[in-house]
Amino acid sequence: MTMTDNNTKNYRIIFEGLLPEERLHFDEEALTNHSVDETEGLSFMPGVVAEPISVDEVSNLLKAANDNKIPVTAAGARTGLSGGALPVHGGLALSMRKMNKIIEIDEKNHQAIIEPGVITEVLQNTVESKNLFYAVDPASKGSCTLGGNLAENSGGPRAVKYGVTKDWVLNLQVVLADGQIIETGANTLKNSTGYNLTGLMVGSEGTLGIITRATLKLLPLPRFRALMWVPFKSISDACKTVSEIFHAGVMPSALELMERDALLMAQDFTGNYELQLDPQNEAYLLIEVDGFEEASLMPQCERVMPVLERNNAGEVLFAQTASEQEKLWYLRRRIGEAVKAVSIYKEEDTVVPRGCLPELLDSIKRIGEEYGFRTICYGHAGDGNLHVNILKDEMSEEVWAEQIPEAIREIFKKVVQLGGTLSGEHGIGYVQKNYMDIAISHHNLLIQRGIKKVMDPNGILNPGKMFPQLPHETM
Ligand code: LAC
Ligand code: ZN
Repeated sequence: MTMTDNNTKNYRIIFEGLLPEERLHFDEEALTNHSVDETEGLSFMPGVVAEPISVDEVSNLLKAANDNKIPVTAAGARTGLSGGALPVHGGLALSMRKMNKIIEIDEKNHQAIIEPGVITEVLQNTVESKNLFYAVDPASKGSCTLGGNLAENSGGPRAVKYGVTKDWVLNLQVVLADGQIIETGANTLKNSTGYNLTGLMVGSEGTLGIITRATLKLLPLPRFRALMWVPFKSISDACKTVSEIFHAGVMPSALELMERDALLMAQDFTGNYELQLDPQNEAYLLIEVDGFEEASLMPQCERVMPVLERNNAGEVLFAQTASEQEKLWYLRRRIGEAVKAVSIYKEEDTVVPRGCLPELLDSIKRIGEEYGFRTICYGHAGDGNLHVNILKDEMSEEVWAEQIPEAIREIFKKVVQLGGTLSGEHGIGYVQKNYMDIAISHHNLLIQRGIKKVMDPNGILNPGKMFPQLPHETM
């Protein structure tokens, strides 16, 4: 696919009539809005923005785009961090936000049928009022959409106990590149019928089809939670504690690591300084346990305590009430935005087997010293998923542009050497695609390119993403 000239006149002829004009936008403001997501420093203009409200509308738009070989980039709330929703080749920005109905909550079968534009937290709150639980809670849960979560296979803090988006999807309705509509599976808990197209679609970043409906699994609601806030003088002790907690026979519902600097930034960003951050403490763990009964919480915390003592933890703060817990979570969830407010930065979403976390952290700090940059590290330590934010600070544009990609390559090589991979939950998208060769073998990539070719022969779906750039490609 070559770069399109965003021929708006042509797009008007092709798309007008497929949607009412108030949901088909050619104006500067709409195009500019859809030129960005939350990925730092990138912007690409689409030629037209469409806001379908039904699967038939999506199907008609895709058929027209495919017939005319126009790029199509689907977007939800554009909170992504790997550039997945950026229309890097222009064309049609397909906003799925208006397909935002919770179609059904099937209490008998513990399932929800949703459209992709539903905000994640809206589904969580809706099912909670029925004593049910949708477990996946990315940090941006208040603004991100389920469609975006499905496209990127999002995780979040509770993934350590409950898994990531893919673990909760039973069935999808998908519009293929040529406008055909398929279901990928069935609304059953088990399915051993043919290839797992549901699994293939989740995390495919809008490159294989457009998800227009999903059947998601729900759980009975674990009503009770305890949250422990644990300081450590040494970040390496904090990392070592992580895998020992599981050995102690505890399955935490969240196990997060934060460097002190990450928290200081979150405090400045939120203006909330209630929590005392002793300068002697390098890092903090946030350990949550949950259960169906209040009495089940304390025994879990008691099992954790000796592990903390053994690893030289400081004084543990127990957040008892929901509002105390929410305050800590609020600070944790704001770290990403807080770092963004401090410096230009690059976000890496490294993931290793969790026992390798201490070595990963050591290596990242060492590479930072070699190249002369600061990193802010935090994330889902229980999953071995560490968000590494590389800060530009006062570094010159030249060094930033030329040397940092090399440093990132070194970080990723270390990650893979430790048995890990490039992204735990943010996806590859536009910003990580040229590192794919580090984690994915040539033959694996050939298979992936082959799947793409079968499902999207004209290459219209989210072009310029996920696959390493080929020599003849311009982006
Ligand atoms: C978080 C996002 C950045 O964990 O994934 O805060
Ligand atoms: Zn995260």
